[in-house]
Amino acid sequence: MPADPQKLIPQGGGDAATGHRCPGAGVMVGLLESLAPRLARLDYTVPDQDLTIALGRVIARPRSGFVINLTS
Ligand code: HEM
Repeated sequence: MPADPQKLIPQGGGDAATGHRCPGAGVMVGLLESLAPRLARLDYTVPDQDLTIALGRVIARPRSGFVINLTS
């Protein structure tokens, strides 16, 4: 499928061997596959915090980060 020029491709749209693409993409996908189910199983609450996005900052992120309190 051709890349949509309006979409973000976080690790680059090319081929790591011949062009612009992060060679760590496979490592990151493996880490996320392992991490996502662990995060989904956590019991936590989210305290009051500032979740607005600071658009003048690179990398954009919520002003408070994302604070959680583990409940178990
Ligand atoms: C979510 C995590 C990551 C993102 C979004 C990301 C994104 C990128 C991007 C956009 C580039 C530039 C590609 C280009 O235009 O040529 C890059 C390059 C690179 N990344 Fe990543 N990366 C991530 C994680 C990693 C990891 C975990 C590793 C190593 C295990 C890694 C190693 C590299 C290296 C060595 C380059 C330079 C490649 C070159 O210029 O020859 N990255 N990354």
